[in-house]
Amino acid sequence: MTGPKQPYYITTPIYYVNDKPHIGHAYTSLSCDVLARFKRLDGYDVMFLTGTDEHGQKVDQSAAARGIDPQTFTDQISQNFRDLAAHMNYSNDDFIRTTENRHKKACQALWKTLLDRDEIYLGSYDGWYSVRDEAFYGEKELIVKDGVKLAPTGAPVEWVSEPSYFFRLSAWADRLLKFYDDNPDFIAPSSRRNEVLSFVKGGLRDLSVSRTSFKWGVPVPGDEDHVMYVWLDALTNYLTAVGYPDADPEKLATYWPADLHMVGKDILRFHAVYWPAFLMAADIAPPKRVFAHGWWTNEGQKISKSLGNVIDPYDLTARYGLDQTRYFLLREVPFGNDGDFAHQSMVNRMNSELANDYGNLCQRVLSMIGKNCDGKVPAHGDFTDADMTILNKAYGLLDVVRGQFDAQAFNRAIDAIWALIGDANRYVDEMAPWGLKKTDPTRMETVLYVLAEIIRHAGILTQPLMPDSSAKILDQLSLGEGDRGFACLGPDHALVSGTELPKPSGVFPRYVEPEGEGETA
Ligand code: MSP
Repeated sequence: MTGPKQPYYITTPIYYVNDKPHIGHAYTSLSCDVLARFKRLDGYDVMFLTGTDEHGQKVDQSAAARGIDPQTFTDQISQNFRDLAAHMNYSNDDFIRTTENRHKKACQALWKTLLDRDEIYLGSYDGWYSVRDEAFYGEKELIVKDGVKLAPTGAPVEWVSEPSYFFRLSAWADRLLKFYDDNPDFIAPSSRRNEVLSFVKGGLRDLSVSRTSFKWGVPVPGDEDHVMYVWLDALTNYLTAVGYPDADPEKLATYWPADLHMVGKDILRFHAVYWPAFLMAADIAPPKRVFAHGWWTNEGQKISKSLGNVIDPYDLTARYGLDQTRYFLLREVPFGNDGDFAHQSMVNRMNSELANDYGNLCQRVLSMIGKNCDGKVPAHGDFTDADMTILNKAYGLLDVVRGQFDAQAFNRAIDAIWALIGDANRYVDEMAPWGLKKTDPTRMETVLYVLAEIIRHAGILTQPLMPDSSAKILDQLSLGEGDRGFACLGPDHALVSGTELPKPSGVFPRYVEPEGEGETA
C-alpha cells in the first residue's frame, strides 16, 4: 500500500464490572483482536479499543453488597478485564474506563449537543426497568412467569416512577430505516438485520435517558439530580477514546466513524438502533458496521452462575493452551451462530487440525530440511506443474482470506488456510521427498523448498489467530520481524536458499487426557 495507511477502528463492548470475566467476554474481544491483528498485518493503521462499563445501578448494587464504595469496587474489577486482555494476548491500543474524566467530558458534550438540538426533553418516566439488563421495557414486552412479571430476557423488572429526560427516539424510526436501507452492511449477520428492522418498523417510543434514584453515573450537565442512563454513557465510550469532543481532533477525524463495533446478540439493539439515532441526532456519523455474534453454551447447557457452569477463560488456556483456545473459539462455530463448548470437540480439533494437520506438516518438513539440507533453506530447481499449483494456491490465499475476514467469517477463513495445509500434506505424501534423497536429491530439495514456502504462507496467515505459535513457526524459517506482514506474501519475498535455519521443534502438542480424569470439562 502506498501513501498514508488507511485507518481501521474496531471496538469491543465495554464490559460490566459486576462480574469476573468469563468465556463470553473473552470471545467478543478475541474476535476483535484477530481482526485488529489481521488489519495491521494487511497494512492498516488500526485502533483497537476495549474497556469497562462502570456506571449504573447494577454496579452500585454490587459494590454495596460487598460493602465498598463503587469507585474502589470498579477499580478492582476493571483490573480483572485488563488482566484478561493481557493474558489472552489481545493487542488493544487503548483500554477505556467510563469512570475516567475524559469520558465524563465526552458524555456531557454529547448530552449538551442533543439538548441544544432539542433531541432531549425533560418529562417523567413511569414504567418497567430491569437493573440486570439496564433496560426499560414496555408492558407488552414483559413475560409472566409464576405470576411474576419479568423482562423478555427473564430478568426481574421493577416499576419506576421518577422525573426523567427523554431522547426523542420516536422521531427517528423513518430516518433509521432509511439509514439501514442505504447501508445494507451496517448490521450483520443478515438474520440479525431483519430482527432490528422489524423492531424499528414496530414503532419506537421516546427513550428515558436519565435516572434520579441513584447517583453512580455521569451527572447530567445543568441538572445534577440526574445521572445519565447507563447505555447513553456506555455507548459514548467509542467516541471518547478517539478524542471526542475536542481532546484530539486529529484522532477523531482519523478514526471516526468506527469501522466495526463487535457485540453479542443480546446488545445489538443498543448498538444498531439507539446508538445511530443518538449520533445522527447530534449530527455525528454513525459507525460503519455492527456485528452481533452468538452465545456459547457449556456441554449443551445454557451458561449461568446459578448452574455453576460458567467457563473461565483462564481454565481453558491452562488446560488446552492459549493459541489452542483462540483457535477453537473461532473455528468451532460459524461466527454469528450460537456455539457449544464441549471438551471432546476441543480435543478433537487440537489433535486433528492443530497437532496432526498443521503441526505435523511443519515438523515433518522442517526436520527433513534439518537432516537433509544441512539445516538451511534448500536450493530449488525448476518448479513442476504440481509445484506451481500448490504455490499459486498459497499466493492467492490472502485474497480469499481477506474477503472472509472482512465479512467476519472467521471459520471460513480458517477453512481456506486449512485447505492449503491439507493440500501440502497430500503433496508431501505424493512427492515422498524421503524417497528422493537417494534417487534425485535436487528434486528433493525443490520439493522441500516448495513446502517451506507453503509453511511460510500458512505461518504468516495464522498470525492473527495464533500469534505465539505462528511466531514459533516463522522463527523456524528464520523470518525477520519485517518479513512477516501480508505484503511479504507471494513470490517476491520467497525464502532465500541457503538461509541458516534453527533446529526445529514441535509447535502444537497433542492433548493427552491427564491420568485419572474423565472426559468431562
Ligand atoms: N456493558 C454492556 C456493553 C456496553 S457496550 C457500549 C454489556 N456488558 S457485558 O459485560 O454484560 O457483556 C459483554 C459481552 O459479553 C456481550 O457482547 C455479550 O454478548 C457477551 N457475552 C456474555 N455472555 C456470553 C456467552 N455465554 N457467550 C458469548 N458471549 C456472551 O453488555
